[in-house]
Amino acid sequence: MGNTSYKKPLIVLCVTGCIAAYKACDLLRGFQKLGFDVQVVMTEHAKEFVSPQTFEALSAYPVLSEMFEIPQNPIPHIKLGQQSAAVVIAPATANIIAKIAQGRADDLVSSIALAASVPVLVAPAMNEVMYNNPATIDNLKTIASRGVLLIDPIYGHMACGGEGKGHLAPVEDIIEQTLIALGFGQKLRGKNVLITAGPTQEPIDAVRYITNRSSGKMGYALAMAAAKQGAHVTLISGPVALPAPEICDVINVVTTQEMFEAVKRFFASYDMAIFTAAVCDFRPEVTFEGKLKKGVDNEKLTSLSLIENPDILAWAGKNKTKDQIVIGFAAETDNLLENAKAKLVSKNADFIVGNDVSGGKVFGKDEACALLIYKDKSIELDCNNKELLARDILDFIV
Ligand SMILES: Cc1cc2nc3c(=O)[nH]c(=O)nc-3n(C[C@H](O)[C@H](O)[C@H](O)COP(=O)(O)O)c2cc1C
Repeated sequence: MGNTSYKKPLIVLCVTGCIAAYKACDLLRGFQKLGFDVQVVMTEHAKEFVSPQTFEALSAYPVLSEMFEIPQNPIPHIKLGQQSAAVVIAPATANIIAKIAQGRADDLVSSIALAASVPVLVAPAMNEVMYNNPATIDNLKTIASRGVLLIDPIYGHMACGGEGKGHLAPVEDIIEQTLIALGFGQKLRGKNVLITAGPTQEPIDAVRYITNRSSGKMGYALAMAAAKQGAHVTLISGPVALPAPEICDVINVVTTQEMFEAVKRFFASYDMAIFTAAVCDFRPEVTFEGKLKKGVDNEKLTSLSLIENPDILAWAGKNKTKDQIVIGFAAETDNLLENAKAKLVSKNADFIVGNDVSGGKVFGKDEACALLIYKDKSIELDCNNKELLARDILDFIV
């Protein structure tokens, strides 16, 4: 958007002049943990409640309020409402709800709401009398009838004293409703999902190792997709250059043996295990101490002997209960369908996601295509960036 380059899918978080404005800080962090960038837009009155600096520090983006005077972003109301994933107005005053109902566009928040072509969610927060005023009730009905997704306030303590309905919905509920609006159906709520990702490294000596081209992107995308579906996710990761997803428990390992030990430790208490890691099937029989020297240790270097690593997917397939779902990945350069089908049977997996990695495809790339094999069926999922492909894979499986 203009010169502001968002790196991840964007949530536009609009904050209006309510006592509950401070709760938007938790909302912002919650969205970030789920892998979103957050652009905060504040009404002028919202700034009476929370300083824009707080949101700027948390979001790492300047807070927007002005329609004009943003040189790097000359038409923010159109861009933000159309190029983001969703617009979330939380907390929403009676005033902003009235403006949206009237189709007014006299500030940045109301203009974004009017120009938005992405889901718009409104979480009202106000005094109970304001909330139950027929004007507010009508306004809420009007905006809901036009497709705005309302997140009802709850009964609770009022800043002005007493109790009543008008308390901002819990932050977790606002996040959940946003995820549902984005197509993440919360089908894994309450489930434990174990995911392995990345390559493994098998040391030859103190500085050399055997590995492969896996970047971990697919496993990390699946971890985020499962978390967005409401799962508790444990991610067992080989060495990758990706930021650890805050929402998941991350266990870092280096070798296949270490990954295997971690899987064995957690597997029994997980409902679903997804093995995306491209583990090294073989490792050097001997790991030499120190660095082998060219010229001195040529014999050792040219006669490396390899031994087989444990087969983690096969172990999981053998040890799963009837309530556990085991999903393996198959990276193949030839005969994808046959090889993936054979892997489904030989590993006793419930699903195999087959990737054609011929010609440098998939490994390290942001996009991938997938062939999903289960029972005696196969289905091709549309090629997509790995975030969306991860969502589609999980959607299909759950
Ligand atoms: C201390 C204080 C708290 C307020 N809390 C709320 C509130 O929770 N909900 C609400 O709708 N309005 C509340 N208001 C009134 C709004 O701030 C006022 O209607 C303002 O014009 C809203 O502007 P905005 O919608 O552009 O942010 C409060 C006002 C004050 C002075």
